[in-house]
Amino acid sequence: MGSSFSFQTNLLHNKWKVDKETGAVSVPIQHASTFHQFDFDEFGKYDYSRSGNPTREALEETIAELEGGVRGFAFSSGMAAISTAFLLLSKGDHVLVTEDVYGGTYRMITEVLSRFGIEYTFVDMTDLHEVASHIRPNTKVIYVETPSNPLLKVTDIRGIVKLAKANGCLTFLDNTFMTPALQRPLELGVDVVLHSATKFLSGHSDVVAGLAVVKDPKLAERLYKLQNAFGAVLGVQDAWLVLRGLKTLHVRLKQSSESAMKIASFLAKHPKVEEVYYPGLSYHSGHSVQRYQAAGFGAVLSFRLADEEAVRTFVKHVKIPVFAVSLGAVESILSYPAKMSHAAMPKEERHRRGITDGLLRLSVGLEAADDLIADFNEALFHVANKPITVEG
Ligand SMILES: Cc1ncc(COP(=O)(O)O)c(C=O)c1O
Repeated sequence: MGSSFSFQTNLLHNKWKVDKETGAVSVPIQHASTFHQFDFDEFGKYDYSRSGNPTREALEETIAELEGGVRGFAFSSGMAAISTAFLLLSKGDHVLVTEDVYGGTYRMITEVLSRFGIEYTFVDMTDLHEVASHIRPNTKVIYVETPSNPLLKVTDIRGIVKLAKANGCLTFLDNTFMTPALQRPLELGVDVVLHSATKFLSGHSDVVAGLAVVKDPKLAERLYKLQNAFGAVLGVQDAWLVLRGLKTLHVRLKQSSESAMKIASFLAKHPKVEEVYYPGLSYHSGHSVQRYQAAGFGAVLSFRLADEEAVRTFVKHVKIPVFAVSLGAVESILSYPAKMSHAAMPKEERHRRGITDGLLRLSVGLEAADDLIADFNEALFHVANKPITVEG
């Protein structure tokens, strides 16, 4: 917000703090779909709400400032933001994508973009050599999700940007898990930051929304045209809900991240948990890169139980988290990637990526961490011990 205030203060004390007309301390919701033109020759700033709306604009400017970009765009869902950004590609272009990308993005790339002649390759982005070896002359976009969903793999953003720039490609980054409170990809050279604002940005499981932010004015103009042409814009009530949620983003993420660290440490020591994926754990493969490029480890972690039966028993006995799709809310959300976020991925692909039938993902909310730990401990008590196999 161009001030010397911290991110936390800027979330509240920004251009949109007080309505200039009335002094209202909440952004007015402008429902109008169309706007009277006072001058026959020169139209006003707004003419039709798909092309521009003051409430949506408040959100678009706010996210642009928080991410350190020149322009933000609000869409009717995270997938609408991601899909619209992909419309920057043309027939014959190639995109390199993070291997364990969100299932909906996987579906968009493999089932929709492919029909329009856009080629793709999925790569393990934790390995920069692997990424470099898959860049082709027609590669136009490197698409990153870090930490990735659901295995929390960390990609070196600066390393990817360097490769992208050297090969004339754009870098897109899905910043849903981190938000600008913890990670500012545009400052690291990324071209397009994408969000499912359904998650931490709004934070209360009561709105579906997507955002995109860019730093380059020319790219902003291209994306604006696509937003207006494709038309998947965010409604004004929903824009207002995201704006309201944003006010508490910092405090929510801080609290939830602290709890996530405690829960990850607890799970890591539990004998019935085979593996814990959380970049805050010092032995996580992406721990040092995460420390270097982000201001925290976030509030999402995954853990592996023995198999589907163990997951079934755990989910049956756990009391606090909701068992649901989605993440990034005030209430903890436990989800089962194999049947939820990654159901769109064929089983062999999921397994190859490590998204196996024993994997659970937890988005930590604002409950007391000790209550969650006690709840998980109790649920794990009911999970059967792994049978001891005798070799020979
Ligand atoms: C990392 C990530 N990106 C994008 C999306 C898609 O967002 P939406 O559900 O708002 O369309 C999700 C949804 O779960 C997600 O987790």
